[in-house]
Amino acid sequence: MKNEVRLALTGFMGVGKSSVARHLEHITGCRRFDLDSLIEETSGRRLAEIIDSDGINKFREIETAALKNALDAGGGCILSLGGGTWTVAANRELIITKGFTSIWLESSFEHCWFNIKFSRKERPLARDKEKAKKLFEERQRIYCLADWHFLVRPGLNSYDIAHQIADQLL
Ligand code: S3P
Repeated sequence: MKNEVRLALTGFMGVGKSSVARHLEHITGCRRFDLDSLIEETSGRRLAEIIDSDGINKFREIETAALKNALDAGGGCILSLGGGTWTVAANRELIITKGFTSIWLESSFEHCWFNIKFSRKERPLARDKEKAKKLFEERQRIYCLADWHFLVRPGLNSYDIAHQIADQLL
């Protein structure tokens, strides 16, 4: 099946954006970009190293540049954002202007934290549980600006989520 959809997945670290995007790639046949991976490939550096040595503001600049490149891809596209990408107003504008439908994958903090703890991905902004929880709470009102809101209920895996999104959107 090939559907010319343009979807941008947002949500907190550990919610499963990248895994859901992988399934949506298979379902739709569209190209997929993982923003964090793009940043690592183009810079030749690990995200954690960029954030730790250059700071979060520099990382956000690099992230916006990578986002512009990814959004320039024409046609169908599945884009998994980093957890902070959507929180930057200029990034939201770019995503909207380039014709993407944004989807917020929402889950509880404890669910995200569980995944963060058991993931191999290094997340400098989630080394401390209390700080991560504060960030999670601050960001809810910004994530909810996305076009679509998908509530990740307990027991749903990334395959189920992708299929439910596809059933509703395609
Ligand atoms: C970040 C989330 C990370 C990554 C970076 C910053 C954030 O992506 O972009 O560590 O600000 O929430 P994931 O959401 O894929 O972990």
